[in-house]
Amino acid sequence: MQSTLTALVTKAQTDLAALATRPDFEAAKARLVGPNGEFTALMKQMGSVPKEERPAMGKLINETKARIQMLLAAALQRIAAAEIAGKLGPAIDPTLPSPDAGPGTYHPLTLVREEMCRILRKVGFTVADGPEVETEFYCFDALNTPADHPARDAQDTFYFPESARFGNVSKKVPGEKYLLRTHTSSVQIRTMLKGPPPIRIVSPGRVYRRDTSDASHSANFHQLECLYVDRHVTVRDLKALLDYIFASLLGKETKTRFRPHYFGYTEPSFEVDLSAKHLPKVNKEWIEIGGCGIVDPTVFTTVGYDPEVWTGYAFGMGLERLAMILYGIDDIRYFYQNDLRFLKQFG
Ligand code: DAH
Repeated sequence: MQSTLTALVTKAQTDLAALATRPDFEAAKARLVGPNGEFTALMKQMGSVPKEERPAMGKLINETKARIQMLLAAALQRIAAAEIAGKLGPAIDPTLPSPDAGPGTYHPLTLVREEMCRILRKVGFTVADGPEVETEFYCFDALNTPADHPARDAQDTFYFPESARFGNVSKKVPGEKYLLRTHTSSVQIRTMLKGPPPIRIVSPGRVYRRDTSDASHSANFHQLECLYVDRHVTVRDLKALLDYIFASLLGKETKTRFRPHYFGYTEPSFEVDLSAKHLPKVNKEWIEIGGCGIVDPTVFTTVGYDPEVWTGYAFGMGLERLAMILYGIDDIRYFYQNDLRFLKQFG
């Protein structure tokens, strides 16, 4: 009996080692320990073993059973591991450099930003920069936007806690809060505080609002701001510049129109619509593209410019909106998903 058990274990070991699939494993398991299996048959012979040999034989059978169970478990584990490895494919070394993906392309927002800056440089504008972390003074107060204005509401603006510190942006007014700028208009103030007129700047950059993301909203997006300060600046100059910009970007047939609006930092103020019916991607007659106006004298007084001498215009527009018109993109979220299938269509 003992030699039969040992032979059974040896045979099980060889058989199980050769298995590669689950059905083969199940069949082998049944042949061994199933109701009609070889081991089961041996167990049944226990009845014919003389009484005095039974304890020793029982021990031997139990040991053999444990050994077979272990062999079965090991074989199943090996088959399962092979299945996973098969699904994963050949092993990779994640520390190796990735295969050369070829040259990259510019992001569509970069393309529109650079094109707008190029168009504006041609007529004397220089690019100005400002921080994305701002203070209430630059983002609101100096732009003549009073403390109770809805734009300043915590529902629309991301404020930092009182304890936040930023080494590169200093507070102008004691007790004012840090925030993420809600528009690029803050760069108007920073530029004017740096030096005297005349001024002709364009400032593209990222802005933040507490918007829930959907096809046309995102909590961060990009704007492009322009400020022009000189003597005798009028609405005609402003309109002429906007006509020039959009004709350059979208084609000569493009038209712009002003609708009266309110902004604290310009008077009069307008919303700007554009019509580019010749573009197959624009199916609406007029699309709102930004805000603008003649710089309010209060703003000049705040930055120390004499409002009796200096005049100016300012405008701001959304870069995503422009890129969506230009390329026929119908969902703002595509810009931020880094999906190569989207990004490779540009540039
Ligand atoms: N800051 C405004 C906005 O985010 C846009 C704007 C309006 C900018 C009027 C201007 C301006 O410079 O004069 O909606």
